[in-house]
Amino acid sequence: MTSSINTKSDKSAIIKVDNIYFGWSSEAVVLKGCSLQVPQGEFWMLLGNNGSGKSTLLRLLAGLLIPDSGTIVMPRKTGFVFQNPDHQLVMPTVGADIAFGLVSENLSQMQTRQRVKEALDAVNLLDLERRPIHALSGGQKQRIAIAGAIARNCEVILFDEPTALLDPDTQLELVSQVRNLVKKRGLTALWVTHRLEELDYCDGAFLLEGGKVVAQGEPQMLKEKLLATEQQ
Ligand SMILES: Nc1ncnc2c1ncn2[C@@H]1O[C@H](COP(=O)(O)OP(=O)(O)OP(=O)(O)O)[C@@H](O)[C@H]1O
Ligand SMILES: [Mg+2]
Repeated sequence: MTSSINTKSDKSAIIKVDNIYFGWSSEAVVLKGCSLQVPQGEFWMLLGNNGSGKSTLLRLLAGLLIPDSGTIVMPRKTGFVFQNPDHQLVMPTVGADIAFGLVSENLSQMQTRQRVKEALDAVNLLDLERRPIHALSGGQKQRIAIAGAIARNCEVILFDEPTALLDPDTQLELVSQVRNLVKKRGLTALWVTHRLEELDYCDGAFLLEGGKVVAQGEPQMLKEKLLATEQQ
């Protein structure tokens, strides 16, 4: 199960992982020769059992960890959306939180407000700019985290099980909104999930097993393969 668009050194790939190894210690090697490429402007998902190394791989992609060997090529501006938004929204209000992510860019107050508004508009939450973070629903918090990445002009957004804490309706709303954002704005997204119904929204998916990608490509094919394995 391989995809023709996702072969070695595809020039259109914006995320490139080549043969990486990473261990928390010499006894706990998590990634062993892991390679993958995500084409620019596409929405890909990453599947794998608990403990297979999905979150570790995302942290490596975000530059939060360094591989022991192998290479990772990523754009300079990458966003990260965590499973629990309470771990990443740090300011008291929505507008302040998004503006906080722009501090290092030395923008004028006007430019900052413009970026914040544009990003909130992109996730359809413009009317919540002054809302305290604690008065948001889980789905709204995830959309604010996404707006933060959009405000920073991130080309790639990494999502680590962003729907795990959401109810089923909000879950599907979020995944479909991310698909729309990817298609409308030319973003690239890599989304970790355990929920097979989310595969309907992506362009392609990877299956991580034994420290490497063992299957990749067309989402429906991967879904059928996983369902068949579950039934065995
Ligand atoms: N900070 C850490 N220190 C040591 N070992 C860790 C650390 N974080 C994760 N691990 C180990 O690395 C392995 C991969 O963990 P990881 O969290 O990447 O898996 P995962 O695929 O994201 O799992 P899940 O589906 O449960 O989120 C596991 O064996 C885990 O115990
Ligand atoms: Mg994880």
